Amino acid sequence: MGKREKFSSRLGFILVSAGCAVGLGNVWKFPYMCGRYGGAAFILIYLVFLLILGFPIIICEFSVGRGSQKSCAASFRKLEANGARWHHYSYFCMAGNYLLMMFYTMVSGWMLYYCYRCAIGEFTGTVLTAAAVKDKFTDMTASPGTLIIWTILSIILAFGICSRGLKKGVEKITKIMMVCLLVLIAVLAIHSVMLPSAIEGVKFYLIPDFQSIIDNGIGNVVFGAMSQAFFTLSLGIGAMAIFGSYLDKSRSLAGEALSIGILDTFVALMAGLIIIPACFSFGIEPDAGPSLIFITLPNIFNQMAGGRIWGTLFFLFLSFAALSTVIAVFENIISFAMDLWGWSRKKSVIVNIVAIIILSIPCILGFNILSQFQPLGEGSNIMDLEDFLVSNNLLPIGSIVYLLFCTTRNGWGWNNFIKEANSGKGMKLSEKIKWYMTYVLPIIVVVIYLKGYYDMFSSKGIVYMVPWFAVAIIFLGVVFWMAFSRKRKKL
Ligand code: TRP
Repeated sequence: MGKREKFSSRLGFILVSAGCAVGLGNVWKFPYMCGRYGGAAFILIYLVFLLILGFPIIICEFSVGRGSQKSCAASFRKLEANGARWHHYSYFCMAGNYLLMMFYTMVSGWMLYYCYRCAIGEFTGTVLTAAAVKDKFTDMTASPGTLIIWTILSIILAFGICSRGLKKGVEKITKIMMVCLLVLIAVLAIHSVMLPSAIEGVKFYLIPDFQSIIDNGIGNVVFGAMSQAFFTLSLGIGAMAIFGSYLDKSRSLAGEALSIGILDTFVALMAGLIIIPACFSFGIEPDAGPSLIFITLPNIFNQMAGGRIWGTLFFLFLSFAALSTVIAVFENIISFAMDLWGWSRKKSVIVNIVAIIILSIPCILGFNILSQFQPLGEGSNIMDLEDFLVSNNLLPIGSIVYLLFCTTRNGWGWNNFIKEANSGKGMKLSEKIKWYMTYVLPIIVVVIYLKGYYDMFSSKGIVYMVPWFAVAIIFLGVVFWMAFSRKRKKL
């Protein structure tokens, strides 16, 4: 096997990691959650979680990646204490990345399709009613053919870029996409806040209304904010760790993590600032939920002067965000087989193209042929199940795994971790944070995780609640046992 490829520049690393972090979570989930959970008040809670949870965990992931020089498929085995069993989590990491792509590639396909639809003027010109805009969305999801074509397009595009290698493909193209994305944000945000009466939306966005949090149930909102913090920073399943493994030791990891977190938060906040004032300007409530982007907004572009151009640019922005993430996660997926079995990049790309196309099909069919299958209760579909498994389970549990792996002696151990995190120039992590990361943080995650579960399933009935709870508790038990049982010898 050749030497591990490295990023060609620091900026490359930051933009690729930010490209992984900036995705549908920022431009789709965040604005609709914000619209639903009362704007500024939700944002505040979310920011707190990013800082107290997201920041330490992203450093853990980068450290494990850099320390092991491997993807999450092999990193635990390489670093764990003698006889420990953390490497079993590798399977969950790998499964998590595939599971994420099983629905993410489809929604990325929607973005590309909507960009195309806006560009050819489907949402402008004619006297299009709100109902007709909605029909366009439901027609799309009802047609497996359309969905498959656009999903395959996003898969091939992203794998095509990855097949050219880390530096020449992933790094080069992501850099260009991220710069375009930032330019588009500036243009779109300026346009949006200058719309008539947009100021009402800006107020909703900036002035907290705590009542709406109470109305939505504090448990729901806090759980939502926590899940979103994990999701947006791509934590818990080794998606960030891979980029640590392409790094040299010249910079400390806390500083890099901070830059990436700031970029990610900036994009999420700006996406909201583009969307929410536009809703207010046209007198439409931003609380539609997941359909905010695909139904509410095209409806607004339809009424807006120059809507065809603004709509196209907007969906181009979303497509860049989505694709930069798909590319980053594919890079991780490709590296699994390369790390585990020494496959060539080409072989891994080819096998994974086929695998991901096949794996994306259940989610697509869940919207039409298999819509009767409602795994999480009334009105849910296969995508909801996949998203729930990843976002609400693997990410919080995986984050606890990374935390405890880095802080306890049974794992990699605090000393090894802090040495890795702090080697190089730049911001250093304080030793004092050890106690917080070992005992406080995991408990915060567990409490919110179980409370979120309870709120989610209490309305759905005991039949759903008991099995999900049982699985969650067994998992958590195993992880804590691995971390705190006294069997391992000191390294
Ligand atoms: N962070 C991405 C987004 O906001 C999604 C993502 C990519 C992700 N890789 C991940 C989420 C790994 C969780 C885990 O859209």
